[in-house]
Amino acid sequence: SDNELKLNINGKQFTLDADPNMPILWAVRDMLGMTGTKYGCGAGLCGACTIHIDGEPARACLTNLKQVQGKSVTTIEGLEADKLRRAWSEHNVPQCGYCQSGQLMSAAALLSKKQRPSETEIDDAMSGNICRCGTYNRIKSAILSAAE
Ligand code: FES
Repeated sequence: SDNELKLNINGKQFTLDADPNMPILWAVRDMLGMTGTKYGCGAGLCGACTIHIDGEPARACLTNLKQVQGKSVTTIEGLEADKLRRAWSEHNVPQCGYCQSGQLMSAAALLSKKQRPSETEIDDAMSGNICRCGTYNRIKSAILSAAE
């Protein structure tokens, strides 16, 4: 059909018959069943929906399907970040957990660019990811220890 879209997500090819203006958040969650990417605010304000597009962190709620044509999308399901995941667990980071896949996606994007980020660089990179439980200090400790 006219609306056949090809998506590369976590290294796999998907073909979707969908509105090209639909946010990719709904494609991954509702059409492809990958529910690790969370819907928080739907307005680009909270970071719960963070994915990577060609390795850069992006808001899935504000990125539509036509914007990712020909690009590589990574969701939490496909994120290779063993060190970070281990640090998250060792530091008992999550409380309710809702924002944490977005937090991990942002942290992984930071560490892929900067192997040993400063605390300020961590604050900057993570400032768009809101946590209502206030796990910020544990997030920072986990990133610092994953970067060691
Ligand atoms: Fe996308 Fe909040 S759900 S930034």
